[in-house]
Parts: sequence; structure tokens; C-alpha cells
Amino acid sequence: MEREIDLKAAINAISDVVQNRPRPLRELDQIYMKTGDMVLQSELIAYWARDKKLAFIGDGDAISISIAYLKARGILDYGPSEITVFDFDERICNAVRRFADNEQIDFLHSRLYNCIDPFPACGQFDCFYTNPPWGASNGGESVNVFVGRGMEAVGYRGEGVIVIADDEALSWPQQVLASVQMSALNNGFFVQQMTPRLHSYHLDDAPDLKSCNLFIRNIPGVLGREGESLPVTDEAKLANFYGSNQPPTIHYVREKNRVDYGKANNDEYSFELIEKDR
Ligand SMILES: C[S@@+](CC[C@H](N)C(=O)[O-])C[C@H]1O[C@@H](n2cnc3c(N)ncnc32)[C@H](O)[C@@H]1O
Repeated sequence: MEREIDLKAAINAISDVVQNRPRPLRELDQIYMKTGDMVLQSELIAYWARDKKLAFIGDGDAISISIAYLKARGILDYGPSEITVFDFDERICNAVRRFADNEQIDFLHSRLYNCIDPFPACGQFDCFYTNPPWGASNGGESVNVFVGRGMEAVGYRGEGVIVIADDEALSWPQQVLASVQMSALNNGFFVQQMTPRLHSYHLDDAPDLKSCNLFIRNIPGVLGREGESLPVTDEAKLANFYGSNQPPTIHYVREKNRVDYGKANNDEYSFELIEKDR
């Protein structure tokens, strides 16, 4: 099906979302997607998840808000019936909540959650989306933790989109892609589709590194892992989670001051006044 959108209205809407995004914490792998890619990605995911309950396992990019806003403003006439963001950064969860309140979007929610902990809403969603720490130093273990939570979110029966690095000139993204696909198969999911080298990021040390969309779906008739959701405790898996020798040590990122991200902070500048007797 050909889908058409009013591009100017969509770009301006995403501009509102970007104004609301907390500044990224680079040490926690918050690296934001560029705005043009956000527009196209939001439209794609809104269509893919139309009329479904969608869980985001982490979402600094704010694709969740973008999708909800495009739908709420009538720029898209399709989209998920419900969106919940699970993120360990309270600034991100609060930014989602404030945006939803201001725009009266009643189907957009957020929940403070660290993916090291058991997942609190197993089987409550139809599909999931994750753009996790890309696993350059851990062979994809960090990606598999986030994807595992997504699988729990859909009760091992549903679909997911995984957004991870994709670069044919580097070994590690290909190794991570292979590890994620093997882990998906081991958990009863197959790769339905992969759209290569699609998105760019505000990534100063690797500005050309792109990510792909990897679409997975549960294999009909194959049962995924059963039982309760468990914490991640395997130290070998966690040792290089955020980079070489950078295991998770932060449970939650707390919001200290409610800052207006769209405006300069008072501590960024001072005024030098015009002298009266000039
Ligand atoms: C790790 S970043 C990946 C890059 C992505 N482009 C972004 O910045 O959103 C994805 C999201 O995961 C969240 N995150 C990182 N570690 C997490 C954890 N242990 N549990 C839950 N969310 C986490 C970050 O706060 C961020 O919003």
C-alpha cells in the first residue's frame, strides 16, 4: 500500500518532539537519532504497529512520542492503540509523561524500569521496539538483554523491531547482528525482514555509523521461554555492557531539576549590559 503524509507537518511535529528531548548521557549510550530519520522511522513503525499495544524497551530517541504525536495530530491516520516506554532514565520517562499531558495523548505512557530487573508487564503487549546499547564491546550481550525484555513484553508471541548498528566495513556490527539473530532463533523468534543502513546519529566519534531495522516475529507453533521474568545476574554478560569494562552500576537516572529542554539553561550564559553613559 502507498502511504502519503504531509511532510512539512510531520517534520514540524518531530521538531516539537526534539525540543522536548533530554540531553543525551553519552556514557550510558544515549546517542540520538537524527531528525530526518526520526520522521521516516516514526511513520514506518506507526504503520507496522497499527492498532497494536507497543512497548519501547528504552527510548532516548523519542520515537514513541513522535509516533503518538503524529497520530494524535492527525498527520498519520494509523498507529499503535497504546504505547508504553520502559526506561531507566527518569528524565526520559518524565519527558514522555509531560508531553502526553500537554498534548492530551491518553494512549502514551512511561514507566521507570531498568532492564537488569525482572520485567514488570510480561505478556501485556503485542509488539516491541528497542534501540539498545549496540554491544560493540560485548558481542551483542547488551542487545540480547533488551530484546529478551521485549520478548517478555509480548509473552513470546508477537513481533519486535531491533535497531542496531549496521556497517559492512566493521566486524563488530556484523558479529552483533549474527549473535542477535541466533539468540532470537533460540528464543522462538525468526528474522522476518532487515532494512540495512537506514538511520544516522549524533555520534561524534563515528558520524557515519548507521543502524538497521531488524524485524522479528515468533515462530508459529514454537514455544518461547516459559516461567517468571528473572533479573540479569551473569557477571560475564554484564562486564562490558556499556563499553569495555563498563558494567551497569546505575539503577536509575534521576531528574534533579525540571528543565525546559527547548530553552537555554540559566547557567549557560550571562548578560553583559549596555552601559548607560556610552
Ligand atoms: C542505550 S540508548 C541507545 C541509543 C538510542 N539511539 C537512544 O539514545 O535512545 C537507548 C535507551 O536505553 C536506555 N537505557 C540504557 N540502559 C538502560 C537500562 N539498563 N535499562 C533501561 N533502559 C536503559 C537509555 O536511557 C536510552 O533511552
